[in-house]
Amino acid sequence: MTFSLSAGSAKKIEELVRRYPKKEAALLPVLHVIQRDRGYISPEAEEWAAATLGLPPLRVREVLSFYALLRRKPAGKYVIQVCRNISCFLAGSEDIVGHLESKLGVKPGETTADGKFTLLAVECLGNCDHAPCLMVNDDDHGPVSKDAVDAILKGLS
Ligand code: FES
Repeated sequence: MTFSLSAGSAKKIEELVRRYPKKEAALLPVLHVIQRDRGYISPEAEEWAAATLGLPPLRVREVLSFYALLRRKPAGKYVIQVCRNISCFLAGSEDIVGHLESKLGVKPGETTADGKFTLLAVECLGNCDHAPCLMVNDDDHGPVSKDAVDAILKGLS
């Protein structure tokens, strides 16, 4: 198994494992640290997380399959998550998704050929009072219009 993390992420995971009375409880935060470090959770990362936390690999796979925000495939430099939940849906999120599909030439769940953008349509981003909203990596945007989306894309190099 060949898998490694940056020194900072490895240290963070050591701290997380120490913080919880049961190692298993650290699984979700550990997977988030891995994703932030590597961009996604590779099969090698799954094995590494299972071994580090003393869990069956299947347990890690179950968690990965359940949480849509955890990725098992490499993502683009910019991950654009558009909320499709009720407040954003009523405020026009489907139009925003459609606009991004046509601007980027990809469907939700896909990455542009140049590896720059991954488009995701997700559940509530916890920013309902700014519907329709989206996130680009860790940055919130909302409410967004098609023009605002164009400006956001233009600002991403
Ligand atoms: S419904 Fe879109 S952020 Fe909550």
